[in-house]
Amino acid sequence: MIKKIKKAVFPVAGLGSRFLPATKAQPKEMLPIVDKPLIHYAVEEAVAAGITEMVFITGRNKRAIEDHFDKAYELEAELEAAGKQQLLDIVQNVIPKNVTCIFIRQSAPLGLGHAVLCARPVVGEEPFAVLLADDFMDVATGVKPVMAQMTDVYEREGMSLLAVQDVPRSETKQYGIVSATAYQQDLERVNAIVEKPKPEEAPSTLAVVGRYVLNNRIFDYLENLGRGAGGEIQLTDGIAALMQAESVLAYRYQGQRYDCGSKLGYLKATVAMGLKHAETGPAFTEYLRQLEGVYSK
Ligand code: G1P
Repeated sequence: MIKKIKKAVFPVAGLGSRFLPATKAQPKEMLPIVDKPLIHYAVEEAVAAGITEMVFITGRNKRAIEDHFDKAYELEAELEAAGKQQLLDIVQNVIPKNVTCIFIRQSAPLGLGHAVLCARPVVGEEPFAVLLADDFMDVATGVKPVMAQMTDVYEREGMSLLAVQDVPRSETKQYGIVSATAYQQDLERVNAIVEKPKPEEAPSTLAVVGRYVLNNRIFDYLENLGRGAGGEIQLTDGIAALMQAESVLAYRYQGQRYDCGSKLGYLKATVAMGLKHAETGPAFTEYLRQLEGVYSK
């Protein structure tokens, strides 16, 4: 019987050096898009998929993430005393009451594959999701969030799956790249996967983005991996090894991804969400119209 996905792993130990100095003293996952940190959006996406156990793989200087998902006694007491009920609700409802957060320290930055392996003692014998918070996923009104789309597919097919999108050939060096053959609508069967190939060596331009649903068997392979691209233990190499034993699917998700690991992607996500946000939307839309007028002259 296919198991339901109840656990999500969030590798959040990375340094975030591309956002220095903003990330000198705070985790990159705490950078806000309008008024919510990136990691908060990723957790909301997991919650929307019915996931109830959030496993964060953290490192040094990541305390703010634990605090964000914990009770904030002093702040709550002050908001309550000041009668600021709306703000109190926001602070108290960062995650639903039935959701548990578990934090595991990755003692050395050995790579994404190693980070995922750190979750093994908690994930155990179950399939699980992996969400990379700096891949910010937005969907149109009425469309299910990306992880919920993926858990639906998993619960139907029972096979590990990776979210994919086409990228320009010049960018293959930033991604895990798959070659795949058609399977069902929006779904392909992966034949090969390689981490960050040069454009001239990439087997295709179909790139893995930061959403995965994996069978727990992946841990056996991650455990025995050597260092791969960039001298790190790569999740991509673990998936390549898993494919020797079972089929892996590539899923063309519905939605818009913003690469918030890059400054430009982060700015684009901020504009997209600023336009949609209940509080800022109308005035920000008007402001951008005016700006367009200024720059198109
Ligand atoms: C990681 C993975 C890569 C994947 C990418 C998606 O790379 O190793 O396979 O395509 O995330 O964002 P990173 O961006 O951490 O270098």
